[in-house]
Amino acid sequence: MNATIKSIGIYHPEREITNSFFETYLETSDQWIRERTGIEKRYFSLENEYTSDLCVKAVEALQKNHKTDVQEVDFIIVATSTPDQILPSAASRVQAKLGIPHAGCIDISAACGGFVYGIILAKGLIAAQTHRKVLVIGAETLSKAIDLSDRNSCILFGDGAGAVIVEVSSENHIFNALTDTEGNLGKELFISHLSETVDGEPILADRKMHQNGRAVFKWAVSTLVKNIPILVAKNNWKLDDIDFLIPHSANIRILEAVCKKLELPMEKCVESIRNYGNTSAASIPIAWYNGLVSGKIKSHDQLLLIGFGGGLTCAGICLENNIVLEKVD
Ligand code: COA
Repeated sequence: MNATIKSIGIYHPEREITNSFFETYLETSDQWIRERTGIEKRYFSLENEYTSDLCVKAVEALQKNHKTDVQEVDFIIVATSTPDQILPSAASRVQAKLGIPHAGCIDISAACGGFVYGIILAKGLIAAQTHRKVLVIGAETLSKAIDLSDRNSCILFGDGAGAVIVEVSSENHIFNALTDTEGNLGKELFISHLSETVDGEPILADRKMHQNGRAVFKWAVSTLVKNIPILVAKNNWKLDDIDFLIPHSANIRILEAVCKKLELPMEKCVESIRNYGNTSAASIPIAWYNGLVSGKIKSHDQLLLIGFGGGLTCAGICLENNIVLEKVD
């Protein structure tokens, strides 16, 4: 059974946080943040606004962009590292809030790789002919998990959500994928919940995000430089066949380093880091949507999506863009 993606919607919370917010209480500057990360602003959710709320808003936006019946969805996947609760899943909360009558629901925990993992799983459900219309949402409220006193990490992250529907199609537009994990590096980026140790080593169990920025940066660049050519080859493409690369937006310098090493022009790289910060599982659909709105990404363009992050894990997939924004009244 063939699969395609024809619809997309995104949402960011209303509370805009510019770099100057951090200048008010930390030893940092707008200039440092822009130069070292590319970030100009991000959005933080309100105190009583959670990941499932952002998911619902992204699906409502999808319904404004496309004529599609969300009630027909038969499986919901939410990729997130910041679910409202560990149990029940954010996907179950979304099912209830949208009143979708018959849907399987799971969350997947693959950090900034989560959205691509979601597409891979959705494609598998359709190929197995067990499901026909799968809602895949990448969503985060990372502002609730960051330590606002840690200048190494708090300036990086933002909140947001992006939703797509993976559905049965006469032609296949979702191609081969790649997944890759180095679990031994998990301690370089974590949010602790229940365990106070990783690999037997004590960790800070304060339920906040902790990272070794330099180690993650180095791993991200080498992993993308290794895996993008492998993924391209798995699809019988050449690097030149990529119309647009949509990597997880973690830091503009990571994306620039990868493009330089692979000799890909930066114009082919679609990002969401400047205006949203690092929104983890939401960063790829947000970048994809903005690429469509700006007219950069067009029908039938060949896209390579690749997420990477906490795990440390990486997932990539090639697909043909089949999304046309319609604006439904
Ligand atoms: N403002 C000002 N100075 C800061 C700062 C901030 N917000 N954060 C760190 N610094 C300082 C450091 O303390 C250090 O000072 P020192 O030299 O006196 O020790 C200096 O800037 C350089 O630190 P370094 O860690 O080498 O900076 P960097 O260029 O690697 O940038 C990150 C730091 C976190 C922005 C960068 O490593 C990064 O983006 N890493 C990847 C993180 C990531 O993407 N995580 C999620 C993965 S999905």
